[in-house]
Amino acid sequence: MKLLTGNSNKNLSKKIAKNLKSKLINSSIRKFADGEIYVEINENIRGNSIFIIQSVSSPANDNLMELLLCIDALKRSSAKNITAVIPYFGYARQDRKVVPRTSISAKLVSNLITKAGADRVVTVDLHAGQIQGFFDIPVDNLFGTPIFARHIKKNIKSKNIICVAPDVGGTERARALGKLLDVGLAIVDKRRPAPGKSQVMNVIGNVKGKTCILVDDIIDSGGTIVNAAKALKDRGAKEVYVYITHGVLSGDAINKIKKSIIKKLVITDTIDNLGKTNKAKNIEVLSISNLMAEAIKRISNSTSVSDLFK
Ligand code: R5P
Repeated sequence: MKLLTGNSNKNLSKKIAKNLKSKLINSSIRKFADGEIYVEINENIRGNSIFIIQSVSSPANDNLMELLLCIDALKRSSAKNITAVIPYFGYARQDRKVVPRTSISAKLVSNLITKAGADRVVTVDLHAGQIQGFFDIPVDNLFGTPIFARHIKKNIKSKNIICVAPDVGGTERARALGKLLDVGLAIVDKRRPAPGKSQVMNVIGNVKGKTCILVDDIIDSGGTIVNAAKALKDRGAKEVYVYITHGVLSGDAINKIKKSIIKKLVITDTIDNLGKTNKAKNIEVLSISNLMAEAIKRISNSTSVSDLFK
Protein backbone atom coordinates (compact mmCIF):
# COMPACT_ATOMS: atom_id res chain seq x y z
CA MET A 1 0.00 0.00 0.00
CA LYS A 2 1.31 3.46 -0.89
CA LEU A 3 -0.02 7.01 -0.46
CA LEU A 4 0.07 9.82 -3.01
CA THR A 5 -0.97 13.38 -2.25
CA GLY A 6 -2.31 16.08 -4.52
CA ASN A 7 -1.67 19.75 -3.73
CA SER A 8 -5.05 20.56 -2.13
CA ASN A 9 -4.34 19.44 1.44
CA LYS A 10 -0.76 18.29 1.91
CA ASN A 11 -0.91 18.92 5.67
CA LEU A 12 -3.70 16.36 6.06
CA SER A 13 -1.92 13.88 3.76
CA LYS A 14 1.25 14.16 5.85
CA LYS A 15 -0.70 13.51 9.06
CA ILE A 16 -2.38 10.46 7.50
CA ALA A 17 1.00 9.16 6.29
CA LYS A 18 2.53 9.70 9.75
CA ASN A 19 -0.33 7.84 11.38
CA LEU A 20 0.14 4.92 8.97
CA LYS A 21 3.94 5.06 9.42
CA SER A 22 4.15 5.42 5.66
CA LYS A 23 5.80 7.86 3.25
CA LEU A 24 4.11 9.85 0.53
CA ILE A 25 5.01 8.76 -3.01
CA ASN A 26 7.64 10.97 -4.62
CA SER A 27 5.77 12.86 -7.33
CA SER A 28 5.78 16.15 -9.22
CA ILE A 29 2.55 18.03 -9.82
CA ARG A 30 3.19 21.25 -11.68
CA LYS A 31 1.55 23.67 -14.07
CA PHE A 32 2.54 24.62 -17.61
CA ALA A 33 2.68 28.34 -18.36
CA ASP A 34 -0.90 28.25 -19.68
CA GLY A 35 -2.25 26.65 -16.47
CA GLU A 36 -2.48 23.04 -17.72
CA ILE A 37 -1.59 20.56 -14.96
CA TYR A 38 1.25 18.05 -15.31
CA VAL A 39 1.62 14.98 -13.06
CA GLU A 40 4.67 12.72 -12.84
CA ILE A 41 5.15 9.76 -10.47
CA ASN A 42 8.86 9.64 -9.61
CA GLU A 43 9.07 6.09 -8.25
CA ASN A 44 8.05 2.59 -9.24
CA ILE A 45 4.50 1.75 -8.11
CA ARG A 46 3.87 -1.28 -10.35
CA GLY A 47 1.58 -3.77 -8.62
CA ASN A 48 0.94 -1.52 -5.58
CA SER A 49 -2.40 -0.53 -4.07
CA ILE A 50 -2.39 3.25 -4.15
CA PHE A 51 -4.44 5.74 -2.14
CA ILE A 52 -4.46 9.21 -3.74
CA ILE A 53 -5.48 11.88 -1.22
CA GLN A 54 -7.01 15.02 -2.71
CA SER A 55 -9.88 17.29 -1.64
CA VAL A 56 -11.96 18.97 -4.34
CA SER A 57 -11.79 22.29 -2.49
CA SER A 58 -11.01 25.77 -3.81
CA PRO A 59 -9.65 26.13 -6.48
CA ALA A 60 -12.10 23.30 -7.13
CA ASN A 61 -11.54 23.00 -10.87
CA ASP A 62 -7.75 22.76 -10.55
CA ASN A 63 -7.96 20.34 -7.64
CA LEU A 64 -10.45 18.13 -9.45
CA MET A 65 -8.29 18.07 -12.58
CA GLU A 66 -5.23 17.25 -10.44
CA LEU A 67 -7.12 14.32 -8.91
CA LEU A 68 -8.13 13.00 -12.34
CA LEU A 69 -4.63 13.36 -13.77
CA CYS A 70 -3.11 11.65 -10.70
CA ILE A 71 -5.50 8.70 -11.13
CA ASP A 72 -4.64 8.55 -14.84
CA ALA A 73 -0.89 8.65 -14.11
CA LEU A 74 -1.26 5.89 -11.49
CA LYS A 75 -3.24 3.71 -13.88
CA ARG A 76 -0.66 4.18 -16.64
CA SER A 77 2.10 3.32 -14.13
CA SER A 78 0.50 -0.12 -13.55
CA ALA A 79 -0.85 0.42 -10.03
CA LYS A 80 -2.70 -2.73 -8.89
CA ASN A 81 -5.65 -0.70 -7.71
CA ILE A 82 -6.41 2.96 -7.05
CA THR A 83 -8.46 4.41 -4.20
CA ALA A 84 -9.44 8.06 -4.53
CA VAL A 85 -9.43 9.43 -0.98
CA ILE A 86 -11.44 12.65 -1.24
CA PRO A 87 -11.78 14.20 2.25
CA TYR A 88 -13.96 17.01 0.83
CA PHE A 89 -15.99 15.91 -2.18
CA GLY A 90 -16.67 19.20 -3.96
CA TYR A 91 -19.34 19.68 -6.63
CA ALA A 92 -21.65 17.51 -4.49
CA ARG A 93 -24.26 20.19 -3.82
CA GLN A 94 -25.66 19.95 -7.34
CA ASP A 95 -26.98 16.42 -6.84
CA ARG A 96 -30.31 16.79 -8.65
CA LYS A 97 -32.11 19.22 -10.95
CA VAL A 98 -33.71 21.68 -8.52
CA VAL A 99 -34.85 23.84 -11.43
CA PRO A 100 -35.10 22.86 -15.11
CA ARG A 101 -32.10 22.93 -17.45
CA THR A 102 -29.32 22.66 -14.84
CA SER A 103 -26.45 20.19 -14.65
CA ILE A 104 -26.01 17.51 -11.99
CA SER A 105 -22.35 18.10 -11.19
CA ALA A 106 -22.15 15.36 -8.54
CA LYS A 107 -23.01 12.76 -11.19
CA LEU A 108 -20.61 14.19 -13.77
CA VAL A 109 -17.74 14.28 -11.25
CA SER A 110 -18.52 10.69 -10.19
CA ASN A 111 -18.35 9.61 -13.84
CA LEU A 112 -15.05 11.45 -14.35
CA ILE A 113 -13.41 9.83 -11.30
CA THR A 114 -14.54 6.36 -12.38
CA LYS A 115 -13.57 6.90 -16.02
CA ALA A 116 -10.12 8.15 -15.00
CA GLY A 117 -9.53 4.74 -13.40
CA ALA A 118 -10.39 4.81 -9.69
CA ASP A 119 -11.40 1.44 -8.23
CA ARG A 120 -12.81 2.81 -4.98
CA VAL A 121 -13.65 6.12 -3.33
CA VAL A 122 -13.27 7.12 0.32
CA THR A 123 -14.80 10.38 1.44
CA VAL A 124 -16.15 12.14 4.53
CA ASP A 125 -19.70 13.36 5.15
CA LEU A 126 -20.92 13.39 1.55
CA HIS A 127 -23.39 16.21 1.04
CA ALA A 128 -26.05 13.60 0.26
CA GLY A 129 -25.60 9.89 1.00
CA GLN A 130 -27.25 8.89 -2.26
CA ILE A 131 -24.27 10.27 -4.22
CA GLN A 132 -22.69 6.88 -3.40
CA GLY A 133 -25.13 5.46 -5.93
CA PHE A 134 -23.77 7.76 -8.66
CA PHE A 135 -20.72 5.45 -8.67
CA ASP A 136 -20.59 1.84 -9.85
CA ILE A 137 -17.47 1.28 -7.72
CA PRO A 138 -17.43 0.96 -3.90
CA VAL A 139 -17.73 4.22 -1.95
CA ASP A 140 -16.89 4.46 1.76
CA ASN A 141 -18.55 7.54 3.26
CA LEU A 142 -16.94 8.23 6.66
CA PHE A 143 -18.78 10.22 9.33
CA GLY A 144 -17.43 13.14 11.34
CA THR A 145 -20.21 12.94 13.96
CA PRO A 146 -18.34 10.63 16.42
CA ILE A 147 -15.41 13.10 16.46
CA PHE A 148 -17.85 15.95 17.15
CA ALA A 149 -19.70 13.98 19.84
CA ARG A 150 -16.42 13.31 21.69
CA HIS A 151 -15.47 17.01 21.51
CA ILE A 152 -18.90 18.13 22.76
CA LYS A 153 -18.90 15.67 25.67
CA LYS A 154 -15.44 16.85 26.71
CA ASN A 155 -15.90 20.61 26.26
CA ILE A 156 -19.55 21.60 26.65
CA LYS A 157 -20.72 21.05 30.20
CA SER A 158 -24.36 22.19 29.77
CA LYS A 159 -27.05 19.68 30.84
CA ASN A 160 -29.61 21.26 28.53
CA ILE A 161 -28.30 20.58 25.01
CA ILE A 162 -30.31 20.32 21.79
CA CYS A 163 -28.97 19.46 18.31
CA VAL A 164 -30.21 21.72 15.54
CA ALA A 165 -30.31 21.14 11.77
CA PRO A 166 -29.80 24.47 9.92
CA ASP A 167 -32.15 23.30 7.16
CA VAL A 168 -34.53 20.43 6.52
CA GLY A 169 -31.89 18.63 4.39
CA GLY A 170 -29.59 18.42 7.41
CA THR A 171 -32.13 16.71 9.69
CA GLU A 172 -30.61 13.22 9.42
CA ARG A 173 -27.12 14.50 10.29
CA ALA A 174 -28.37 16.48 13.32
CA ARG A 175 -30.46 13.53 14.47
CA ALA A 176 -27.40 11.22 14.26
CA LEU A 177 -25.36 13.58 16.46
CA GLY A 178 -28.34 13.97 18.81
CA LYS A 179 -28.50 10.18 19.15
CA LEU A 180 -24.82 9.97 20.10
CA LEU A 181 -25.32 12.72 22.71
CA ASP A 182 -28.74 11.44 23.81
CA VAL A 183 -30.37 14.86 23.27
CA GLY A 184 -33.36 16.17 21.29
CA LEU A 185 -33.62 17.77 17.85
CA ALA A 186 -34.78 21.10 16.42
CA ILE A 187 -34.90 22.14 12.76
CA VAL A 188 -34.45 25.53 11.16
CA ASP A 189 -36.78 26.08 8.22
CA LYS A 190 -34.41 27.75 5.74
CA ARG A 191 -35.28 29.06 2.28
CA ARG A 192 -32.92 30.16 -0.47
CA PRO A 193 -34.50 33.16 -2.23
CA ALA A 194 -31.46 33.25 -4.58
CA PRO A 195 -28.22 31.21 -4.89
CA GLY A 196 -25.86 32.12 -2.02
CA LYS A 197 -28.64 33.86 -0.01
CA SER A 198 -30.41 32.19 2.90
CA GLN A 199 -33.47 33.22 4.87
CA VAL A 200 -34.83 31.68 8.07
CA MET A 201 -38.59 31.19 7.95
CA ASN A 202 -39.17 29.37 11.23
CA VAL A 203 -37.62 27.18 13.92
CA ILE A 204 -39.30 23.83 14.53
CA GLY A 205 -38.82 22.80 18.17
CA ASN A 206 -38.34 24.58 21.49
CA VAL A 207 -34.84 26.05 21.93
CA LYS A 208 -35.62 28.45 24.81
CA GLY A 209 -32.91 28.40 27.51
CA LYS A 210 -31.03 25.63 25.69
CA THR A 211 -27.45 25.17 24.52
CA CYS A 212 -27.91 24.72 20.77
CA ILE A 213 -25.50 22.63 18.71
CA LEU A 214 -25.96 23.51 15.06
CA VAL A 215 -24.55 20.78 12.83
CA ASP A 216 -24.00 20.79 9.06
CA ASP A 217 -21.78 19.27 6.38
CA ILE A 218 -20.57 22.50 4.74
CA ILE A 219 -20.01 26.10 5.77
CA ASP A 220 -19.41 28.12 2.62
CA SER A 221 -20.34 31.83 2.74
CA GLY A 222 -21.46 31.36 6.36
CA GLY A 223 -24.91 32.81 5.61
CA THR A 224 -26.86 29.67 6.54
CA ILE A 225 -25.17 29.24 9.91
CA VAL A 226 -25.01 32.89 10.97
CA ASN A 227 -28.72 33.38 10.15
CA ALA A 228 -29.68 30.11 11.86
CA ALA A 229 -27.67 31.03 14.99
CA LYS A 230 -29.37 34.43 15.15
CA ALA A 231 -32.82 32.87 14.74
CA LEU A 232 -32.07 30.49 17.63
CA LYS A 233 -30.91 33.35 19.86
CA ASP A 234 -34.00 35.39 18.91
CA ARG A 235 -36.11 32.44 20.12
CA GLY A 236 -34.40 32.38 23.50
CA ALA A 237 -31.48 29.95 23.03
CA LYS A 238 -28.92 30.30 25.85
CA GLU A 239 -25.87 29.82 23.58
CA VAL A 240 -25.05 28.49 20.12
CA TYR A 241 -22.16 26.20 19.16
CA VAL A 242 -21.61 25.08 15.56
CA TYR A 243 -20.06 21.81 14.33
CA ILE A 244 -19.39 21.53 10.59
CA THR A 245 -17.30 18.96 8.74
CA HIS A 246 -16.13 20.93 5.72
CA GLY A 247 -14.91 24.50 6.25
CA VAL A 248 -15.23 25.87 2.72
CA LEU A 249 -15.25 29.38 4.25
CA SER A 250 -15.43 31.48 1.08
CA GLY A 251 -15.33 35.27 0.82
CA ASP A 252 -16.16 37.06 4.04
CA ALA A 253 -17.20 33.92 5.97
CA ILE A 254 -14.49 34.17 8.65
CA ASN A 255 -15.42 37.77 9.47
CA LYS A 256 -19.11 36.87 9.59
CA ILE A 257 -18.35 34.12 12.11
CA LYS A 258 -16.10 36.40 14.14
CA LYS A 259 -18.80 39.04 14.41
CA SER A 260 -21.66 36.58 15.02
CA ILE A 261 -23.21 35.41 18.31
CA ILE A 262 -21.72 31.93 17.69
CA LYS A 263 -19.78 30.88 20.77
CA LYS A 264 -17.57 28.50 18.85
CA LEU A 265 -17.41 27.08 15.33
CA VAL A 266 -15.71 23.68 15.19
CA ILE A 267 -14.67 22.36 11.76
CA THR A 268 -12.38 19.55 10.59
CA ASP A 269 -9.30 19.70 8.38
CA THR A 270 -10.83 18.05 5.29
CA ILE A 271 -10.01 21.43 3.70
CA ASP A 272 -6.71 23.14 4.50
CA ASN A 273 -7.78 26.40 6.14
CA LEU A 274 -5.06 27.05 8.68
CA GLY A 275 -4.01 30.38 7.19
CA LYS A 276 -7.60 31.66 7.54
CA THR A 277 -8.88 30.06 10.75
CA ASN A 278 -5.85 31.04 12.86
CA LYS A 279 -7.19 34.60 12.74
CA ALA A 280 -10.53 33.82 14.44
CA LYS A 281 -10.64 33.06 18.17
CA ASN A 282 -14.07 31.39 17.99
CA ILE A 283 -13.02 28.83 15.34
CA GLU A 284 -11.40 25.50 16.26
CA VAL A 285 -10.14 22.86 13.80
CA LEU A 286 -10.23 19.14 14.67
CA SER A 287 -8.18 16.71 12.61
CA ILE A 288 -9.90 13.97 10.66
CA SER A 289 -6.51 12.32 9.95
CA ASN A 290 -6.78 9.45 12.48
CA LEU A 291 -10.19 8.45 11.15
CA MET A 292 -8.98 8.56 7.54
CA ALA A 293 -5.80 6.64 8.34
CA GLU A 294 -7.80 3.95 10.15
CA ALA A 295 -10.20 3.65 7.19
CA ILE A 296 -7.27 3.32 4.76
CA LYS A 297 -5.70 0.65 6.98
CA ARG A 298 -8.95 -1.31 7.11
CA ILE A 299 -9.51 -1.09 3.34
CA SER A 300 -5.92 -2.24 2.82
CA ASN A 301 -6.40 -5.19 5.17
CA SER A 302 -9.89 -5.99 3.84
CA THR A 303 -11.47 -5.51 7.26
CA SER A 304 -14.69 -3.68 8.08
CA VAL A 305 -14.84 0.10 7.73
CA SER A 306 -18.37 0.37 9.13
CA ASP A 307 -17.18 -1.17 12.42
CA LEU A 308 -15.38 2.14 12.95
CA PHE A 309 -18.76 3.74 13.63
CA LYS A 310 -20.30 1.12 15.93
C1 R5P B 1 -26.55 23.10 1.92
O1 R5P B 1 -27.45 22.28 1.75
C2 R5P B 1 -25.35 22.79 2.77
O2 R5P B 1 -25.58 21.71 3.64
C3 R5P B 1 -24.89 24.01 3.55
O3 R5P B 1 -25.92 24.37 4.46
C4 R5P B 1 -24.59 25.16 2.64
O4 R5P B 1 -23.74 24.77 1.60
C5 R5P B 1 -23.95 26.31 3.42
O5 R5P B 1 -23.72 27.36 2.55
P1 R5P B 1 -23.52 28.86 3.07
O6 R5P B 1 -22.53 28.80 4.20
O7 R5P B 1 -23.01 29.60 1.87
O8 R5P B 1 -24.85 29.37 3.52
